[in-house]
Amino acid sequence: MKILILGDIVGRPGRNILKENLEELKKAYDVDLIIANGENAAGGNGITRKVADELFEMGISLLTTGNHVWDQKEILQFIDEEPRILRPANYLEGTPGRGSAIIEVGEKKVGVLNLQGITFMPCNRNPFFVAEEEIKKLKRETNIIIVDFHAEATSEKIAMGYFLDGKVSCVFGTHTHVQTADEKILPQGTAYITDIGMTGPYESVLGIDKDLIIKRFTSSVPVRFEVAKGPAQINAIVVEIDESTGKALKIERINKISSQ
Ligand SMILES: [Fe+2]
Ligand SMILES: [Fe+2]
Repeated sequence: MKILILGDIVGRPGRNILKENLEELKKAYDVDLIIANGENAAGGNGITRKVADELFEMGISLLTTGNHVWDQKEILQFIDEEPRILRPANYLEGTPGRGSAIIEVGEKKVGVLNLQGITFMPCNRNPFFVAEEEIKKLKRETNIIIVDFHAEATSEKIAMGYFLDGKVSCVFGTHTHVQTADEKILPQGTAYITDIGMTGPYESVLGIDKDLIIKRFTSSVPVRFEVAKGPAQINAIVVEIDESTGKALKIERINKISSQ
């Protein structure tokens, strides 16, 4: 089984480059399932019903999120009834939504788990312990499990990769919006990459207009962020998984830049 996983989709530029290229990518890599991190899909902050539907219509089966999940308040109205949008599973008890899902792909099932780091990020439940609990539940249904670890610190992400090595098919990082070049198969058969990067404006600071960010770093007056314009990029990975064992066979990085 081949799964295409797209890094944080940022605003309209991120959605547009997918509209133009996703079908072709799907064919080129012969993928069975597409998932994406959608925490910045609506104007760079959060996700709305309309934007989520636009992404589902493109062929994305499930959206993970992270610290920006609540930026568009309307999500609180529909996340409980929308199993295709996850928020990190280690959020505090009583948080709306869910942190894991099972997706049916033909005859097979794929478990997806969303977690958030606790280093340089808001305080939540320990993602390592929550990962163990959640994986135990998902394992009752499938041995194909992929984990989006939305985290800031490279050390926390790499540690999670080794912590889950052999227990899941893939651990990939999101949140930094910068793709790392450390993709590998860990010793016990888990595909790993510290961050898959961002699908959004190429000439930007993490998706935001670069001049505004420079202004922010050079002024004491607050600056309103806007998603950058111009060329866009797709950052993603394709993971190939042995369906009988759940172990990863291959992990490949995609870094595609639009021509305009
Ligand atoms: Fe993000
Ligand atoms: Fe984030």
